[in-house]
Amino acid sequence: MTDRSDWEGRVGQKWASEWRRTDRSFSGLTDRLLARAGAHPIQRAVDVGCGAGEVSLALARAHPDARIIGLDISEALIGAARQRGAELDNVTFLVADAGDWRGSQFAPDLVVSRHGVMFFPDPVAAFANLAQGAAANTRLVFSCFRDRTENPWATRVASLLPPHMQPEIDPDAPGPFAFADRDRVEGILTAAGWSEVAFEAVDFAYVAGAGEDALADARSFFLSIGPAAAVAATLDDAARAAFVARLDAYLAASLQDQLVALSGAAWIVSARSR
Ligand SMILES: C[S@@+](CC[C@H](N)C(=O)[O-])C[C@H]1O[C@@H](n2cnc3c(N)ncnc32)[C@H](O)[C@@H]1O
Repeated sequence: MTDRSDWEGRVGQKWASEWRRTDRSFSGLTDRLLARAGAHPIQRAVDVGCGAGEVSLALARAHPDARIIGLDISEALIGAARQRGAELDNVTFLVADAGDWRGSQFAPDLVVSRHGVMFFPDPVAAFANLAQGAAANTRLVFSCFRDRTENPWATRVASLLPPHMQPEIDPDAPGPFAFADRDRVEGILTAAGWSEVAFEAVDFAYVAGAGEDALADARSFFLSIGPAAAVAATLDDAARAAFVARLDAYLAASLQDQLVALSGAAWIVSARSR
């Protein structure tokens, strides 16, 4: 589970310092998401849970006549996004909760998100708020992870922790895998006022490490962020060294051509406001 206070605090700060590597980890997915988001003209777009802003910035550059608003509850991430977008005058980044944010004079015709919508404590209420603030026939396009079993970058890395320190799993609790079940997602969106809900399964290379020492890069990435980082930081020296040895062995098996790329599986979900 990753909740609001995590994103407002420690996890948000980590992601703000790691945006280059988190953007890289999603690189195999981002173009597909942007292609779907940009398949129709855009005048006003909201990027929900925009993090350090890569999707907002890409839309702002590709659609210079559109206005883009990126929303996130993490001040640290919005700070990073503002720095990255300082030269663009058609993108604005706001510290705001998508569950209650409404733009005055800004009814979006696109609501987009790369993995920023699975953390709502009340997803029906949050998506209903987004639908009510949107123009008629607004498109919703977001990505989220499919089942954990299809995402070994998360399950295998977590499984390398000592057995008594495995993270607890509640499939419906806010967190990276909360939208893995398409029936659940369709139910949430339909109840919230969205229609024509459709799912595209996208398998992508989750890039954990790259460069001359891609293995060290991937190791430090997983010790900083992701499914095992917080627990690994609490291990004593011996347990941590044993975990790192297991992690290295797992990552080495996926090292090829200066790249550690693991299997990632996502949905790109689309819908329309009624
Ligand atoms: C996995 S990160 C994805 C960030 C970014 N979209 C990206 O692809 O790099 C999830 C993001 O959702 C944000 N978030 C979580 N709950 C939110 C809410 N209720 N309103 C706005 N943002 C939220 C978090 O702060 C975090 O930046």
